[in-house]
Amino acid sequence: MAFQRVCTLDDLWQGEMMNYTVGGIDVLLVHTDAGQLVATQAMCPHQEVELVQGELSGCILTCRAHLWRFNVVEGKGINPDHAELAIYPIKVEDDVVYVDVEGVEPKFAHS
Ligand code: FES
Repeated sequence: MAFQRVCTLDDLWQGEMMNYTVGGIDVLLVHTDAGQLVATQAMCPHQEVELVQGELSGCILTCRAHLWRFNVVEGKGINPDHAELAIYPIKVEDDVVYVDVEGVEPKFAHS
């Protein structure tokens, strides 16, 4: 495990999401309305459009391109339900957010 500092909680308020580069990997950090913090792959598994351009409602993220929907907390597709998002380990210490990208590969689902 190699957690790397990404940002502070002040940088990403609840209901927001933002892209960060962690160890050379593009990561989408999501802070849900309910206060859950998730680090997931930055690109949609469908056709690699940036998920940060989509819409976040609760823990549901809708890609702007073709409206695929994901539960970002679980990393599971809702529509289509076979799609998945890679989830990176995350931790918060003293209001600083750390993410570990080692050994986690982005998911793809091109149909
Ligand atoms: S690229 Fe995201 S739904 Fe098609």
